[in-house]
Amino acid sequence: MAKTKTLVIFPLHVLILSLATNPVKSQPQELLFNEFGVASENITLNGGAVIEHKGILRLTNDTPRVIGHAFYRTPIQFKTKNSSKVFSFSTAFAFAIVPQYPKLGGHGFAFTISRSTSLAGAYPSQYLGLLNPNDMGNFSNHLFAVEFDTVQDFEFGDINDNHVGINLNNMASNKSVEAAFYPNNGSTNKQSLNLKSGQVTQAWLDYDSFEKQLQVRLSTTSSKPTSPILSYKVDLSPILQDFMYVGFSSSTGLLASSHYILGWSFKINGEAKSLSLENLPSLNISSNKKTQKPLIIGLTLSLSVTIAALYYIVRKMKDREVIEAWERDIGPHRFPYKELNKATKGFKEKNLLGFGGFGRVYKGVLPKSHMEVAVKRISHESTQGMQEFVTEISTIGRLRHRNLVQLLGWCRKEKELMLVYEFMRNGSLDKYLFEEARAILTWEQRFRIIKGVASALVYLHEDWEQTVIHRDVKAGNVLLDGQMNGKLGDFGMAKLYQHGSNPTTTRVVGTMGYLAPELTRTGKPTPSSDVYAFGALMLEVACGRRPVEPKALPEELLLLDWVWDRCRLGAPLALLDPRLGGLFHQAQALLVLCLGLLCSAEAPEERPTMRQVLSYLEGDAPPQVVVVVDRKSARGGELSRSYSFWSSAGDDVSSLSRSGAR
Ligand SMILES: *[C@@H]1O[C@H](CO)[C@@H](O)[C@H](O)[C@H]1NC(C)=O
Ligand SMILES: *[C@@H]1O[C@H](CO)[C@@H](O)[C@H](O)[C@H]1NC(C)=O
Ligand SMILES: *[C@@H]1O[C@H](CO)[C@@H](O)[C@H](O)[C@H]1NC(C)=O
Ligand SMILES: *[C@@H]1O[C@H](CO)[C@@H](O)[C@H](O)[C@H]1NC(C)=O
Ligand SMILES: *[C@@H]1O[C@H](CO)[C@@H](O)[C@H](O)[C@H]1NC(C)=O
Ligand SMILES: *[C@@H]1O[C@H](CO)[C@@H](O)[C@H](O)[C@H]1NC(C)=O
Repeated sequence: MAKTKTLVIFPLHVLILSLATNPVKSQPQELLFNEFGVASENITLNGGAVIEHKGILRLTNDTPRVIGHAFYRTPIQFKTKNSSKVFSFSTAFAFAIVPQYPKLGGHGFAFTISRSTSLAGAYPSQYLGLLNPNDMGNFSNHLFAVEFDTVQDFEFGDINDNHVGINLNNMASNKSVEAAFYPNNGSTNKQSLNLKSGQVTQAWLDYDSFEKQLQVRLSTTSSKPTSPILSYKVDLSPILQDFMYVGFSSSTGLLASSHYILGWSFKINGEAKSLSLENLPSLNISSNKKTQKPLIIGLTLSLSVTIAALYYIVRKMKDREVIEAWERDIGPHRFPYKELNKATKGFKEKNLLGFGGFGRVYKGVLPKSHMEVAVKRISHESTQGMQEFVTEISTIGRLRHRNLVQLLGWCRKEKELMLVYEFMRNGSLDKYLFEEARAILTWEQRFRIIKGVASALVYLHEDWEQTVIHRDVKAGNVLLDGQMNGKLGDFGMAKLYQHGSNPTTTRVVGTMGYLAPELTRTGKPTPSSDVYAFGALMLEVACGRRPVEPKALPEELLLLDWVWDRCRLGAPLALLDPRLGGLFHQAQALLVLCLGLLCSAEAPEERPTMRQVLSYLEGDAPPQVVVVVDRKSARGGELSRSYSFWSSAGDDVSSLSRSGAR
């Protein structure tokens, strides 16, 4: 279709045609959208993308983990048939990113040139609805994207959480730069620009196919800056095919933003028309996004001084506690600060229970109900404090399972963040396993704790509305209530290490000895890496030993190797915690050891799912499992192991039989 020399112009409302006649070869093509409402029949929407009543294109709203795509319906010709050289192109668009919570956005959007309008198989979150972990970097993607990224992903080497990057077939940018612009007033100073501010911003991308130069400019005004903030020399000919779709892709993760495109122009072999921001439809950001303060001030004109004074007094009276509108939307109960202060006797040292993943944990007794609680006070020194906080309350607050430590509520006071959990009287499991002074857990208690944690993980992996990966399953994160029931805590938090400020410690989340081998390579947690950690936990609980014991003999350094060796010698039960004094259920103990080994398989696909593990653990008559063979032989320089499990019940032999290499 694009063979004919046609000028393609869309939406008819605010139309300015400029026929960029190119003397050389191809037909100019120009798309100009000021109101997507008018052009909706020519825009293909996909996922969460909608065109709102005023003709504003909204790629995503603030629902977590959604993808939004919007592409011009017909493909654009980027090359003459069989010619190897791609045309020059130019585009300008106006966008706004309105985060769900002030300053916390997820994940951004990208101007996209792709072979399809659906980008099938793409993932949300950091993948921006463009790619998935398996097709990253593949040359057959033919994907060109300029990302406007509001979350820093160390996985992709992101420079910060406010950058523009050029992505070729990959989520790792070929080149990126912090969002900024050069004002057109003679000043050579870069002005910084916050992509998440909600402000309407214009972006220009120009590709000169002769110079093989791609340039990106940004501004909060209608006039195109003379200097680009990002320039990249690249030949797009191998990336772009003859006909490609142009448009936008976006996604949200655990944290979300509404991503809007308010106007767009695009042109082949010519300069795209800049948008005049004043003439674009205005964004109607609902009032609940705004904080209380500007609302109050905005309402007053001459009375502003009085109101401001009143506001100040009210703030003072409320112990300087300002409740912002977004806080009211968050699931669990919001506690007044005064109540928590009273409950913990002013956060006295005496009430300090310990140091949790992110801050101090205090014991408290709620004044009215006399209920015992644990209050985690997230240290405000942490620059990521707010982010951790929001993640934890918005996710964990909605999870409910008898083997998950329940979040009861929360509180924010200025930069101080507090999370209120049910009180777990007996503290963490590792203290019972490794500290001499504590009471010794009986086999029955250990087995019940293992089953409890397994069922919590089944819930997180499969039974909740979205898959939640714990990422830090370990004895220290299993808490015991008054009846010695085990509950999994501190989840949702592990993910946050990724957003931490120190890339060297944040690349891989988890704890030595519990880390699945593929995690150290890919850094990408999966339910299967949780299964691996759970395997280590099972062995640990049965043997009363840490997965890595630096003080042990070299051959016993790694619990997993030690268990293997003993099983090979045909004496698996000799591994059990000597403090049990030989008092344990033999079949159950063997089952736990065997499952522990199964879950610790080197290859993720050889590990069972948590649901399979739980069904073995809950077998009405636990199969009497015996480790019969464990061959260890050198093959091609690699140690290979095969092992089989026999069930005397005779019903489950095949499903328990596996082999693995390490
Ligand atoms: C949609 O595109 C066609 C050409 O493909 C054009 O004729 C039509 O006017 C466009 N519609 C709108 C509303 O822009
Ligand atoms: C493009 O190349 C193919 C074979 O490589 C040929 O069959 C076709 O005619 C060519 N098309 C044009 C427009 O030159
Ligand atoms: C790239 O993608 C193609 C088509 O999907 C596939 O056949 C090929 O194996 C992939 N290459 C790699 C290295 O993954
Ligand atoms: C940059 O893009 C090229 C494709 O043009 C690709 O081969 C290369 O791996 C990319 N480099 C980086 C650092 O991503
Ligand atoms: C240029 O404009 C920026 C704001 O856009 C302003 O901060 C700066 O001071 C101006 N410089 C001059 C030389 O006017
Ligand atoms: C903004 O949206 C609200 C409700 O969604 C509506 O009542 C109001 O009229 C809108 N304002 C404008 C200027 O469109």
